[in-house]
This record gives sequence, C-alpha cells and structure tokens, in this order.
Amino acid sequence: MPLRPPKLILRAARNRASPAHSRRGTQMPALRLLVLGGTGFVGSHLLPRLAADGHAITVLSRNRDLHRELTVLPQVRVLSANVYDRAALARHLSKADAALNLVGILNETHHQRFRRAHVELTHTLVDACRQMGVPRLVQMSALKAGQGESKYLRTRGEAEAEVKRSGLAWTLLQSAVIFGPGDGLVSRFAGLLRLLPVLPLARPRAKMAPVYVGDVVEAIARCVADPRETGGRTFELYGPDVLTLLEIVRLIRDAMGVRRAVLPLPDALGWLQAAVAGLLPGKPFSLDNFRSLLTDSVGSVDGLAALGIVPQRFAPMLPALLHGRGRQARIEAARARCAASCAAGAKDL
Ligand SMILES: NC(=O)c1ccc[n+]([C@@H]2O[C@H](COP(=O)([O-])OP(=O)(O)OC[C@H]3O[C@@H](n4cnc5c(N)ncnc54)[C@H](OP(=O)(O)O)[C@@H]3O)[C@@H](O)[C@H]2O)c1
Repeated sequence: MPLRPPKLILRAARNRASPAHSRRGTQMPALRLLVLGGTGFVGSHLLPRLAADGHAITVLSRNRDLHRELTVLPQVRVLSANVYDRAALARHLSKADAALNLVGILNETHHQRFRRAHVELTHTLVDACRQMGVPRLVQMSALKAGQGESKYLRTRGEAEAEVKRSGLAWTLLQSAVIFGPGDGLVSRFAGLLRLLPVLPLARPRAKMAPVYVGDVVEAIARCVADPRETGGRTFELYGPDVLTLLEIVRLIRDAMGVRRAVLPLPDALGWLQAAVAGLLPGKPFSLDNFRSLLTDSVGSVDGLAALGIVPQRFAPMLPALLHGRGRQARIEAARARCAASCAAGAKDL
C-alpha cells in the first residue's frame, strides 16, 4: 500500500493551503461529535481545532466542574457523565455522528485500572455506538500498543482489538510521547530539573520519537473530517527526531540554561527508583512505566506523512515551550480565534 494515498494528500494539502476550507459555509460537513477524555492535555489543544472546523462537540467528563475553562469555546459543551455506563453513553450518542475516544491512563491506582480505562471502556463505547447506529469511531492509542511487558501497552493492544472487530468505520491513532504546551514530558522534566541538583534517570537509553501536539491534533482533525480515506486504518504518529531519554532531558536542561547533572541509572537502580516512586502519592514514576520504557517508542510507518502533515522537530520548539502561555490563556486565545472565524463565516453565508 502506498504511504501517501494521492487523494488524501491532495485533500490535506488543500486544507493547509486554505484555512477557510475548514470554516462554516464550506464543503466539509460539520459533524456532531461525542468526545471521551477530551478534557486532558491533547483535548485542550484538539477542541479548539475541531470547533474551528465547525463541528458541534459534546465532551463527557467525570467532573465537568473541573474543566469550566473549556466551555468558553464556541460549539463545545462539557457534561458530567459516567463514561463506563453504557446507557449514559447511548443517551449522549443518540445525537452524534461520530465518537472520539481519548481516554487513557499511565498508571493504576485503587480507583483506576488499566483494563477498565482502556479495554472495558472501549468495549462499552463500541457497544453503545452499535446500539445507537453511530457508524464512526476514532480512537487514540499508543505506539507499540500490544507489544512489550507493560500492562499499559498490553491493555492498549486489547482495546485496539475491540475497535478493529467493532464493525464500525474506525480509525486508530498510535501516538509516540507528545510534547507541547501543558505536556507531561517537557514540563515534567523541566520541573524536576528546577528542583533537583542531580537528576537520576531510569532507562536513559530508551528511544523515542516525540511528536508535537499540534501535529497530533491536526492528524485527529483530518481523520475526523475524512472517514472515507481514513476508515479502517491505523496511523502511527511520531516525530522526525529519534532521541534517547537521556538526550531529551539534556536538551530540556540546555534550553532552560541551568547547570544540572543528569545521572543515567543502570536498570537495577532504575527499577528500584520506579518501585519507590510508585509508592509515592501521584505515582511520578512506576514499575509499569519502567516496563513501558523497555520497548522503544519509535514508529515504522509514517502516519503524519500519510495524512500530509509535516511534523515539527523537538529541539527548536523547546524555548517557546519553556516560556509559553498557560492552559487558560491558550484556550482564551483559541476562543477569540474561533469567534472571529465564525463571524467571518457568517458574513460569507
Ligand atoms: N500525552 C502523551 O504523551 C500521549 C502519548 C501517547 C498516547 N497518548 C494517549 O492520548 C490520549 C490523550 O492523552 P492526554 O495526554 O490528553 O491524556 P490526559 O491528559 O491524561 O487526559 C485524558 C482524559 O481522560 C480522562 N480520564 C483520565 N482517567 C480516566 C479514567 N480512569 N476513567 C475515565 N476517564 C479518565 C480524563 O477526563 P475527565 O477527568 O474529564 O473524565 C482526562 O482528561 C490518551 O489516550 C493517552 O493515553 C498520550
């Protein structure tokens, strides 16, 4: 199969060349989308993008009151719901054209288990989509899902299997670690580097290809917009730079301009660090994270290229990320952009 289906690339190129294409009054149909897990890091970047495409978006959250900032976006409403309850999902799907599942967890606690958040939730969502005749499901997953030793990757793979046998027009997006404003990579290591004179680092030689959140969001938006070309397909989303974890942390340190030592740990000590950190509140690192890092997170079939997206590189983005705006300011700016584009669209009608 060719990497870049010509029709898809042409359409993607048109999207890039003409932002007006994605606004009201243009040929792309506005959809009614039901989004699960849309209040997190990726969601906070994705919702303004989907709203700008004219879609009407309902986000289900376990607690909408914690995410009121998202409700300033035009065409986005956030509702509290039990996303594990099939009847509740079916009710909300009754007015939807497509479902988008972004729910994912990195660690287990007493309250959240990998199997429940990844596999059971996907199973319930698929069932509810079928029951309500919602034909389309776009699901966020992870690079190397189903491979390796970690429960995280294993349950991701099981969730993908649920999606693939759903009979729906599905699309899977397998992402590498994502960087961008509000991420858990750059901001997390920057925080540790500010705090500690020496940063002990487990699995320093683990390889990954960080992907920019703007590119991930663009990929999701294009898949949502084009079920005909992206249905029944899995896209690996990864960036152009293959880096070790040690290189990533050193790049962040150098961009911060601080003098800190980064201490690569041998696996026995890295394992011990994970075991201890897994007992701390909030689990900053865990044995399951350690096991995930045993599998290099590097892709092989370039999904961004297939979708016509030219990815951002990691290091050049760091200065802006380290001194960038907070989540609230970003969403306010997105709201203003959406409002301006909707007003322009209304004039065109
Ligand atoms: N960030 C990355 O580097 C990265 C890399 C690869 C793949 N991914 C995947 O991409 C998706 C989005 O990532 P993200 O970084 O935006 O995740 P995130 O910030 O952790 O947000 C995910 C959302 O899922 C919901 N959620 C969390 N725990 C849940 C639970 N136990 N049960 C039900 N819902 C729960 C939360 O919404 P409410 O609190 O509103 O319910 C949360 O806002 C996830 O599937 C993630 O695994 C992310």
